[in-house]
Amino acid sequence: MRFSDEFLEEVKSRNDIADVVGSYIPLKKKGNNYWGLCPFHNEKTPSFSVYPPKQMYHCFGCGEGGGVINFVMKYENASFAEAVKILAERAGMEVKGMEETGEEKAKRARGDVLRQINSDAALFFMNNLYTEHGKKGLDYLKNRGLSDETIRHFGLGFAGNNGRAVVEHLRKKGYSDELIIASGIATNSETYGMSSSFFGRVMFPIINTDKKVIGFGGRVLGSGEPKYLNTSETPIFDKRRNLYGYNFAKRARKKYYILCEGYMDVISMHQAGFDSAIASLGTAFTEEQAAMIKRDGCEVYLAYDMDEAGEKAALKAVRMLTAVGITPKRISMKPCKDPDEFLTKNGRDEFGKRLDEAENGFLYIEDRVRESFDLSDPEERYKCERQIVENLWMFAVDEVRMNSYAESVVKRYGYTASEVSRLLDETRPREYGSKDAAPKPSAYSPPKKPVGKKKENIWTAAESSLLTWVTDEPEIYSVIRRYLNYDDFSPGSCRTIAQKAFEMLENGTYSNQALFDDLQDEVLVSDATGILQNSAPDIDTSEKRMEMLKDLIIRVMERSCEILAGNDDPEKELKIFNRRLEIDKLKSGKLRMHDEEEN
Ligand code: UTP
Ligand code: MN
Repeated sequence: MRFSDEFLEEVKSRNDIADVVGSYIPLKKKGNNYWGLCPFHNEKTPSFSVYPPKQMYHCFGCGEGGGVINFVMKYENASFAEAVKILAERAGMEVKGMEETGEEKAKRARGDVLRQINSDAALFFMNNLYTEHGKKGLDYLKNRGLSDETIRHFGLGFAGNNGRAVVEHLRKKGYSDELIIASGIATNSETYGMSSSFFGRVMFPIINTDKKVIGFGGRVLGSGEPKYLNTSETPIFDKRRNLYGYNFAKRARKKYYILCEGYMDVISMHQAGFDSAIASLGTAFTEEQAAMIKRDGCEVYLAYDMDEAGEKAALKAVRMLTAVGITPKRISMKPCKDPDEFLTKNGRDEFGKRLDEAENGFLYIEDRVRESFDLSDPEERYKCERQIVENLWMFAVDEVRMNSYAESVVKRYGYTASEVSRLLDETRPREYGSKDAAPKPSAYSPPKKPVGKKKENIWTAAESSLLTWVTDEPEIYSVIRRYLNYDDFSPGSCRTIAQKAFEMLENGTYSNQALFDDLQDEVLVSDATGILQNSAPDIDTSEKRMEMLKDLIIRVMERSCEILAGNDDPEKELKIFNRRLEIDKLKSGKLRMHDEEEN
């Protein structure tokens, strides 16, 4: 959804940043700032500050920062539009998007029809279950221990013995062949004409949180290939952003989700009363699904199959969840293979116990890694340790956490800290620096940020002080512009921020918020808050102020010579020479303040 500028302004003005942030985390007032423990990285002393005069927050520990919308996006793992909605609702405002374009409207209307077709098909499949030819489907489900109530709850059905009946049914409802194809229910082929690949299967409708059917999984009765046939991607069926059982699980409002591997597992779990069970949709668990769970503020219990494929899938899920800051727990269902089998054999109470006994998912995986090697062989033992240490890299976004896990690994397996530290460097992923980088001296020494980003973000203190000053007191821009251009600033985010700020200052359109909105790129927003958060120097005499300003300008000019020296501009010698002259002149004189003084 798009919003008008006025609406966005009102949302921001009705949501004071200190109030909003304060409703998520405890804040303490000190001077003009509020301080708290940063919710975006682990810390023991507060380096997270909120500065109401500029309606911004910034963490001096991890560099995260932004305005009130950025905060909600980050904290709730929400999109821009979602964050705006949350804030609008918080302020009791009616959420008003901009008028949809004709194209957007048409797209939405078509989506509605495609969902309706799927919902109609689901009803058709459901009704089949209770007909003569659908009896084998019903028998199959009953044999697997599902009650009538569960079958109805999940809207399970049976696709008839040929793929044409559902097409005929949908045609009778008035849908065109084109729409039926687009819904993912049927295809048109020369040999078979319009026909559905779903036949002779029990059908599991996939239902979104608006209770609309968006696709299906269909299971063969008994053995056959493929075991499950799933709707392929359609405009309404995005496997990455939906989860099986989520429609019920979200409404159950538990503190945790139980992540299973299969449709049948989810259904058995719900039938046994574990109504927050979910599963991915015939594909591996995705980043997007992890973000959905994070947004719901839930913990995760992994109930993947206890076989090799299940352990592999669990490792992937742990990676995805770790990336959003969730450490899942692993439920052991031994000696059973999956939740479905476990519940059938042992019942809900036993499963409840397993839930209570669930262990840290990461350490669980590490134990499985160890089991997969023959530790009596020195070569295998080395490979095992390497693999175990390599897995620690999934915590790289959070250094404190990574260190704490490194320590657990050391204790748990009797490694030495220096071995772990060395292997961390050997297994360092490319985005965190080259694998040949010399080991760092500190305990486990994982580097924090991808190097690519870091390199271009070398700013001098003078640069950021000057940018702080000019954004706090735009009047001084008229002085600065006489000496400096944006490209005198260090390349990377520093220069981009200078460029955007100077452009607006030049046009007289500068405001912190406008700059902010311009720096949508998250990295820049964080960098910008580092600057905007601070205030201009608090010096009483204007003479001293000008001395200080002059000093800063000189330092940035000197910095610009360094930058020039580092590139291969053929004119650079001349430019540097002229720059040096200017610097010397400025050093021995005063800042030029007004046009009149120019000659
Ligand atoms: P499983 O084979 O473990 O399925 O695959 P399951 O749900 O436990 O099925 P039952 O108990 O044998 O009936 C786990 C999940 O992987 C996807 C499905 O989402 C399934 O639920 N899958 C599996 C497919 O999409 N296609 C397949 O052919 C097999
Ligand atoms: Mn299974």
